[in-house]
Amino acid sequence: MSPYPEPLRQLPAASDPAPGPHHVAIIMDGNGRWAQARGWPRTEGHRRGVEALRRTVRAASDLGIGYLTIFSFSTENWRRPPTEVSFLLGLLKRFVQNDLAELHASNVRVRMIGDRDGTPPDIRELIEQAEHLTRDNTALTLVIAFNYGARDEIVRATNRLLAARAAAGVAPLPISEADLAAYLDTADIPDPDLLIRTSGELRLSNFLMWQAAYSELVFTPVLWPDFDRAALEAAIHEYRGRDRRFGAVKQQAV
Ligand code: IPE
Ligand code: IPE
Ligand code: MG
Repeated sequence: MSPYPEPLRQLPAASDPAPGPHHVAIIMDGNGRWAQARGWPRTEGHRRGVEALRRTVRAASDLGIGYLTIFSFSTENWRRPPTEVSFLLGLLKRFVQNDLAELHASNVRVRMIGDRDGTPPDIRELIEQAEHLTRDNTALTLVIAFNYGARDEIVRATNRLLAARAAAGVAPLPISEADLAAYLDTADIPDPDLLIRTSGELRLSNFLMWQAAYSELVFTPVLWPDFDRAALEAAIHEYRGRDRRFGAVKQQAV
């Protein structure tokens, strides 16, 4: 758990030698527009998006990033046409199947956040096998946000917290921030330092709304299939120029 006392838990230690970001979260957006700009079907954009994902995972590993969270499918993405939904599900399945050996060999730990109960059983099983195989890996943690929505996550966490208290015969109220955070899908994952959204859209679309409270946001016009190491490095450069205050006042040298 965090070495910091509760009110300071998001402040880096003064002597922290690593400039970070330690945790990068990405809303991988713009696949459809990338394909449509070329007169191709949206699915071709999704296919190329997987290549961008591979590049980004390798770059994040090389750069020594601790956690990379990728928004792969939202709780709202079920609203898309069934053919596109099944294409996206198939792509994710193949990504896990084809890339797991390389991820494992690269010491990458795979995790999923999102509603597992609403996830098709074959995908859930594949991801859980990947989590199990890679659980002791110590390099990058790749967090796959699948069937993920922040509102859904917070509601599921609240229900589980209250159910656990009822089962233990403990009074349901009050609950603290730490109590709720311990039941989020990200309970053992640090908050993202840097949150990137590609494709020029300026919104969170229900991604990590609790955890991103103090994340630095970087919006880039790059469409996800074009994202690469240089684009990641540019976002990190922007992050390192930011002044993170967490609501406090910077120590003045007086
Ligand atoms: C991101 O690209 C992939 C997912 C949301 C699953 P989009 O499919 O949203 O592409 P645009 O935003 O329509 O261009
Ligand atoms: C967010 O992108 C979800 C993922 C990247 C998986 P969307 O394309 O679904 O978001 P909106 O609909 O533009 O807000
Ligand atoms: Mg989109």
